[in-house]
Amino acid sequence: MAPGAVRRIGRWAVGTTPAGEDLAVSRRCRHQLADMSTGTVDADGCLVCPWHQSRYDVQDERMVTGPRGFLTYHGATPCYARLVLAYGRYLRLAAARVVRRDGRVRVESR
Ligand code: FES
Repeated sequence: MAPGAVRRIGRWAVGTTPAGEDLAVSRRCRHQLADMSTGTVDADGCLVCPWHQSRYDVQDERMVTGPRGFLTYHGATPCYARLVLAYGRYLRLAAARVVRRDGRVRVESR
């Protein structure tokens, strides 16, 4: 899988960081439940939500940047983003282990 790309394997969003590390986390964003398997991995190795661009550190699965919008609005919402970030730091994504064997990719719960 190319660095930055994310795909769905069962209930997991699976991707590769720019450093070549595999990641597998639960698919539902802690903001408004967007499917993270349609997101991207940015240059810093953070998983970015496709709806409002909240960012998650995939080393500890915490939200590190709050959303830029809500529902169908897309734009700056500094106070709201801080509020979501406050709980996003505690409601971490679940993480799993990516196993590559015989050219196949599988996800195993930790
Ligand atoms: S649903 Fe993920 S940032 Fe809004």
